[in-house]
Amino acid sequence: MDSTTIVRTKGERGAMSIMACDSGRAFATRIIQHLNEIIQNETHSLPLRLIHSEEITFSNGEVKTVIHENVRGDDHYIVQCIDDPLSEKSVNDNLMALLTAINAAFQSDADSITAVIPQFPYSRQERKKTRECITAKQVAQFIEVSGANRVITLDVHAEAIMGFFTTAKLENLHASNYIIKHFKENYSANDLVITAADVGGAERARYYSKTLHAHLAIVDKARDYSKKSVISSMRLVGDVDGKDVLIPDDMISTGGTIINAVKLLKDKGAQKIYVTCSLPFFNEPAVELLSKAYEEGLIAKVIGTDAVFHGPEFVKNTPWYDEVTIAPLFAEVIYNINQKRSVSELLK
Ligand code: R5P
Repeated sequence: MDSTTIVRTKGERGAMSIMACDSGRAFATRIIQHLNEIIQNETHSLPLRLIHSEEITFSNGEVKTVIHENVRGDDHYIVQCIDDPLSEKSVNDNLMALLTAINAAFQSDADSITAVIPQFPYSRQERKKTRECITAKQVAQFIEVSGANRVITLDVHAEAIMGFFTTAKLENLHASNYIIKHFKENYSANDLVITAADVGGAERARYYSKTLHAHLAIVDKARDYSKKSVISSMRLVGDVDGKDVLIPDDMISTGGTIINAVKLLKDKGAQKIYVTCSLPFFNEPAVELLSKAYEEGLIAKVIGTDAVFHGPEFVKNTPWYDEVTIAPLFAEVIYNINQKRSVSELLK
């Protein structure tokens, strides 16, 4: 063990300790780096490091988590990035790994267990339209039943998911302020119009438009839910003719929504189009679609956060992509929770 670091730091709530599932390790390391800056400034105590734990996958695909250090009585945080583009593990593998990690902490008698999951899985399945499951609620129940007291996530797709928890609390962080700051510092736009890619994104777009003092437009998108990822119609409410556009979305999955919105905006006379998203999943065929759109001059830049981490090589080799780290926000929220301080200002 490194004698210059400590495993936990004493907070108002109890000793804080941080653990990561395999796919959450990179993000957890960045959170710890920022937590240590806060801890150094506030208490001058020794820096934190990750709790030693192990995710074991058996030959039949079953998974279990073993914690190799004492966490009894801790205010314990478990970091997992469920959709991990740098691993072969599926969303379901990583969800199951998270549940086993939560239960390992519960069985190890941690006082409080917080699942730090920047990507809330199954968040687009929060209501039913026919004879189907409400999987987002099942996920909330699985997390609670495994032993978690709290969940910290980022721009959860449907805020109704907060109400799916009975005993655990959900803290929903927003990437908007970090992305807006980055945009203001690194880009200059002419006569900017903030455009929601669909009606569901109107509130976020309104926040961007207020903060950046820019006009607002909305793409009204109708989906054909009888087919997978099929959009049946799109129309623009607002004016983008001759103007630069910024589209703030919560996530880019296949890229279909963004590409369709961008094509419509170009038809309506938009100049440079910037796209921002909290969760750049880039599931197939998003990278191909976005690369093509960039080459054809449809998109100027896509700005995403490291809540979905594509690695430094991807960022270096992808001219249309720019990454903002959101780990400092998670570090601040975790620190405030541990100190029993308000987090309201940080949730805006
Ligand atoms: C839609 O409601 C969301 O805000 C995203 O625009 C959508 O889920 C992205 O999915 P895709 O990239 O597959 O169109």
